[in-house]
Amino acid sequence: MFVASVMASVFLSFFMTHFLFSHKLRSYVQDNLVVSGKTIIESYKNSYPNHLDTLMGGITALPIFTIIVYDEQGRPLHETDKVAKHKLIVDEENLRSVLNGGVFRGGMGKEYDRLVVGLPFQIEGHAYALFIKPETNDVATLAVGYFRMQLFLVVFIGTLLVIVTSRYIVRPLKHLTLATRNMAKGDFSIRLATKSRDEIGELTASFNQMAQELDSLERVRRQFVSDVSHEIQSPLTSIKGFTMALKQKKMDEESRLRLLTIIEEESDRLSRLTQDLLKLSALEHDQIQPNMSQYRLDEQLKDVMIASEPLWSNKNIQLNLDLEPVVISADEDKLSQLWTNLLSNAIKFTEPGGMISINLIASQHSVTVSVADSGVGIPEEELHHIFKPFYKIDQARVRAVGGNGIGLSIVKRIIELHGGEIRVESAVGKGTTMNVMLPLVLPNKYNKV
Ligand SMILES: Nc1ncnc2c1ncn2[C@@H]1O[C@H](COP(=O)(O)OP(=O)(O)OP(=O)(O)O)[C@@H](O)[C@H]1O
Ligand SMILES: [Mg+2]
Repeated sequence: MFVASVMASVFLSFFMTHFLFSHKLRSYVQDNLVVSGKTIIESYKNSYPNHLDTLMGGITALPIFTIIVYDEQGRPLHETDKVAKHKLIVDEENLRSVLNGGVFRGGMGKEYDRLVVGLPFQIEGHAYALFIKPETNDVATLAVGYFRMQLFLVVFIGTLLVIVTSRYIVRPLKHLTLATRNMAKGDFSIRLATKSRDEIGELTASFNQMAQELDSLERVRRQFVSDVSHEIQSPLTSIKGFTMALKQKKMDEESRLRLLTIIEEESDRLSRLTQDLLKLSALEHDQIQPNMSQYRLDEQLKDVMIASEPLWSNKNIQLNLDLEPVVISADEDKLSQLWTNLLSNAIKFTEPGGMISINLIASQHSVTVSVADSGVGIPEEELHHIFKPFYKIDQARVRAVGGNGIGLSIVKRIIELHGGEIRVESAVGKGTTMNVMLPLVLPNKYNKV
C-alpha cells in the first residue's frame, strides 16, 4: 500500500511536470511566433507586389520558420515548405477562420503541428492569411531530449529508491502487525528483533516492552487466580471434613460443639476472604478516586483503637497512644480501614502481655503515623514480600491466628491512593514498627476529578 502510494505520487509528479512545462513552453513559442509573424507581415506588405520572391527566398534561407501565405480564395501563394522536415498542413476550416480575421494558435495534431500560428492581414482590401511554424533544429531536439531524459531518470531512480527503502519500512511493519494479532489472541511471549535506531526501531522496541509488561501482568493474574482458588479450597476442605465427621461418628456434646465451632470459623474466614478480595479489587481499579473530606486524624486513630479493644484487652496487651491533634484531608473510610488492618496485625502477631504504641507526628505538609508492636517481628528477607496478596510469613502461625494475607496489600493500595508511603522496621523476636507517611493535602495529580 505504502509503496503503491509513493510510486503513484512519483508518476503523478512526472506527468504533471511534463504537462505544465510543455504547456508553458508551447505558449511561449506561440507568443514569439505571433511577434515574428507580425514582422514578416510588415515586410510582406512593404515588398508587395514586386519583391515578394526575394523576401520569401530570404526567409527560406533562414531555417527557423516554415511559412505559408494564402490568398483570399485559400490558395497557397508563397511557401517555404520545401525545406521543412515536418510539413506544415493547414486544414480548410482553420484557414477560413483566419481569412475571416481570426488568429489561430495551435492545432490538435502532433507536437510540432501544435506550435502553428495563423495570422490574418489585408493588402489593398484583400484578405490574406499567414501561417507560421518554428522549424525544429538540432539544439531544440537535444534540449527536449535532455529534459525528457532527466524526468525519466527521476522516475526511475525514485522508484528504485522507494522499492529499496520500503523493504526496510514495510517488512518490520508487517512483522509488527502479525505480532499484534498474535498478542490479541493472548500470546504475550512474542519479542521482535530490531537493530535499527530509527522510528520503526523505536516502535519495535516499545512494542517489545509492552509485550514484556503484559506478559508479567498475565503471570501475576494467573498466580492471583491460583492463590485465590487455593485460599478458598483449604477452608472448604476442612468444612467438608468436619461435617463428614459429624455425620458419621457418634460423639459427645463437647466434641460436637468443638467441630461446629471450627466449621463456623472456617466459614467466617471464607466470608472475610471474599470481602477482602472485593475490597482489593475495588482498590486495584486505576480510576478509583479517594472520597476526600477534612477530619481529625488523631480522633480517628483513637476510634480505631477503641473499636478493637476486645482484641487487645483479651490478650492483655498494653496500648499506648501519643497523638498530636491534626486535621487531614483524606478518604476517611479508607484510612480507617488502613489503621484497622495495621492494628489488627500488631495485635495478631504480638504475644499476650505485649505492648503496642501508636504515634502521630505532624510536620508542615505531612503526617507520620507509626504502629509499633513488641511482637514476633519480620525477618529482613521477608520485608519486601509482605505487601503481596496472600503472602504470609509463617503459614502455620498465621493459620492459628487467622488471616488471608490480604490486609497489607489493601494497606499499600490505600497509601498509594493518597500519595503517601509506608516503611517497615522490624527485628525478629523484638517487634515491628509500621511507619505511614501521608501528605496533609492530596498532591495535585490526585485532585483531577
Ligand atoms: N506486625 C507484624 N508483626 C509480624 N509480622 C507481621 C506483622 N504484620 C504483618 N506481618 C506478616 O506479614 C504477613 C502479611 O500480612 P497481612 O496483613 O497482609 O496478612 P494477614 O494479617 O496474615 O491476613 P489478613 O490481614 O488478610 O487477615 C502476615 O501474615 C505476617 O506474616
Ligand atoms: Mg493483616
